[in-house]
Amino acid sequence: MSTSQLSAAQIFLDTNRVISPISPLVFSGFAEHMGRSIYEGIYDPASPRADERGLRKDVIAALRELNFRAIRYPGGNFLSGYRWLDGVGPRNQRPCRRDLAWQSIETNQFGTNEFIEWCKTVQTEPMLAANMGTGSIQEAADLVEYCNAPIGTQYANLRASHGYPEPHAVKYWCLGNEMDGPWQIGHLDAPEYGKKAREAAKMMRWQDPSIKLILAGSSSMGMPTYPEWDRTVLELCWDQVDYHSLHYYANNRDNDTGSFLALAAEFEMYLDSVSGVLRYVKAKHRSKHDVYLSWDEWNVWYKATGSSDMQGGWIEAPHLIEEVYNLEDALVVAQWMNVFLRKSDILKIACLAQIVNVIAPILTTRDALLKQSIYYPFMLFSKLASGVALDVAVKAPLYSTAKFGDMPLLDVSSSYDEANQANAVFIVNRSQTDSLSVELCWQDHAPQNIKAVYQVAGTDPKDANSFDNPNRIVAVKVDAPAVKNQRTTLTLPPLSFTAIEAQLV
Ligand code: AHR
Repeated sequence: MSTSQLSAAQIFLDTNRVISPISPLVFSGFAEHMGRSIYEGIYDPASPRADERGLRKDVIAALRELNFRAIRYPGGNFLSGYRWLDGVGPRNQRPCRRDLAWQSIETNQFGTNEFIEWCKTVQTEPMLAANMGTGSIQEAADLVEYCNAPIGTQYANLRASHGYPEPHAVKYWCLGNEMDGPWQIGHLDAPEYGKKAREAAKMMRWQDPSIKLILAGSSSMGMPTYPEWDRTVLELCWDQVDYHSLHYYANNRDNDTGSFLALAAEFEMYLDSVSGVLRYVKAKHRSKHDVYLSWDEWNVWYKATGSSDMQGGWIEAPHLIEEVYNLEDALVVAQWMNVFLRKSDILKIACLAQIVNVIAPILTTRDALLKQSIYYPFMLFSKLASGVALDVAVKAPLYSTAKFGDMPLLDVSSSYDEANQANAVFIVNRSQTDSLSVELCWQDHAPQNIKAVYQVAGTDPKDANSFDNPNRIVAVKVDAPAVKNQRTTLTLPPLSFTAIEAQLV
């Protein structure tokens, strides 16, 4: 593909123009008992790369590099049929069950305590979930007691008898998963779910008043019940919950890369709409309480959706939805994270779905690990974005898209960490053919020089990494340009994501 240079763009940065603090929890992930996520991904005693507990050391190292602040577990659709007592206690006494959500065999060799131990090793925080499908509000409260209560009562004592006398102090709890979906085990309508979630929330909080609760919002904005579901359940649960969830899986089924690369417009619109529902319910309740958004499933997912991707054929650890990610997917992930910064006032949690093997930034075989294209933008944001998000002004040429009309060629966000005087700028060049010269203009304090510039780029939007060719799409450190008169100029290749790390003075 031949490339050319378009006219210049400008990005204006001012550390006084603050949107909001960036919640570190927007750099979270999601691991479900499904496919090869837990078994063969996280827990793989047969692998030469496993430690003495059966945990994959290479997976732990890769996930540490992504610096997930929390990981949501154990589902997902799996959650709605999960009996948490199956997964605790001596391993040889745990039942083997048919998982109806993914038509797979669940051995329960990995459960709540193993997950919490694993989180400690990964240096992340567990975000657990209560089953609102087949589970009762009593079982939800019992699970909180099991995890968080001091010894002295039945479930806390049970935890101690399993080797954990100290409470786990799990802070974040989801109230079910996608309960609006007819595919969900124990699917409920909105008033039914709202009342069940409210009553579960009360009991869970009575067990531990310090926990934070996440209500299950619409499972996508394509649902016929959206956004009425969200209004109804929020009206019923407003005072009992802290976050309201949304899920979205992006696709390029039409093979329209121009529109796909403009999806940030849709992500913003979705957040704006659900924020509107939050504002409405808050006003209706005359409430001083705030509920924030938790985008607790997000990713690109559309290639691996055949029946063999979705149904496990009643075996253990089947290969389910092992999506292969390419360059254009990585650029969509980067834009999504730009949106997380731009909407940091309302979005406080976001979980990349998922983390290993199942729609994930890493894939494993028994003795190897592959970092997919989407690994790199996530890593750069997770590493560099801290402090507050800045409201940047962007002047960029437009391009025409079938879905969103004219869109700017650049998608940008920026963070500023006052304590460390660290400033990061994240830029996607959506052009498929043209490199773009961009001038960064700091309007108050500027860096003396740029610390580092990282780029994820390529010539073919469909290029992907594979076990044979693992370094096609990676983050590359490129030369940092000089800063003069509070300005610097960079060239952004077509189809690229650039992360700029600067130290302000
Ligand atoms: O992440 C895969 C599945 O997608 C989850 O189990 C479900 O919540 C969503 O529909």
